[in-house]
Amino acid sequence: MPAPLITGWGKCLPPAVLSNTDLEALTDTTDDWISTRTGMKERRVSHVETSDLAAAAGREALAAAGLDPEGLDLVIVATCTPDRLVPSAAALVQQKVGATRAAAMDLNAACSGFIYGLAVADQMIRAGAVRRVLLIGAEKLHFFLDFSDRATSVLFGDGAGAVVLEEAGEDGGLLAFELGADGTAAEILCIPQSGTEGFPGTERRARVQMEGPTVFRRAVEAMGDSALRVLEKAGLGLDEVDLFIPHQANLRIIEATARRLGLDASRVMVNLAAYGNTSAASIPIALAEALEQGRVRPGALLVLAAFGGGLTWAAAAY
Ligand code: UT7
Repeated sequence: MPAPLITGWGKCLPPAVLSNTDLEALTDTTDDWISTRTGMKERRVSHVETSDLAAAAGREALAAAGLDPEGLDLVIVATCTPDRLVPSAAALVQQKVGATRAAAMDLNAACSGFIYGLAVADQMIRAGAVRRVLLIGAEKLHFFLDFSDRATSVLFGDGAGAVVLEEAGEDGGLLAFELGADGTAAEILCIPQSGTEGFPGTERRARVQMEGPTVFRRAVEAMGDSALRVLEKAGLGLDEVDLFIPHQANLRIIEATARRLGLDASRVMVNLAAYGNTSAASIPIALAEALEQGRVRPGALLVLAAFGGGLTWAAAAY
């Protein structure tokens, strides 16, 4: 069975920058607090919708793969901030990129969505159901932020990252993955009143709520443990990992996870200073930047790990 491979990648970061200093004017915070507690310096704010960011990243990935959009069989958008509940952001992307033959669906596993999508795309190709998939992580999180709440509003940003996965007839690709969830902890990171339980009304929007320190502890445990389990499933050791690409939620979470895994900074991808936490978009954006920076050589072993609302977690050895 040919291994599905990533044959193209792309990203879209909206140009408007919201810096820590800008946030000082919006909420009771300081550049020093945000920098030392999170490692973030700025994030992007989008004036277009999630599907527009997703389509721009998707077009770049298609160009990198040298693939016509009509060649796609499936578009998956991992997002928890779609333009609308119906139609899916993926259906809008299908139309925007001209993927006329492709099926389209959204996947919501919050910040773990891209790795969940990678597993779904990989397994559908391996099953022979589809041959070419455009997988995008895209978010417009600033829409769901309450800028009077300093505990959440400084953390998140907007953006999109995309990959094309194709049946490639070679070895490699996704070697092992793990997807996990603990719905009993749903309330520690959520956007209440953003669905059938109701909406806050015309004066207010639904807002992200988070018990930061609890999420922090669980993120370090879950990302580290699931990264170890996927390596074990793949029959590989930590010494063989070329690059660890974690979800970009907090520099201290990434450093603590890397310490648990015994990985030094040269083997860990970090770009959150520029973009903040972009949820499902963070890993594909980091992957695209690692590729652009020449940090991923042919045959490299990548380990991806994520954690987010649900609670969900996921890891992949690629
Ligand atoms: O992507 C999904 C996963 N999300 C995450 O993984 C996020 C996980 N959590 C975190 O990254 C961290 O918990 C935060 C960055 C959210 C918070 O950092 P922390 O070191 O856990 O701080 P804390 O919540 O324990 O708050 C410490 C202090 C508090 O003040 P007191 O009670 O000590 O006086 C907070 O009120 O920092 C205060 N604080 C702030 N001060 C200035 C909280 N947010 C801010 C802020 N600016 N933005």
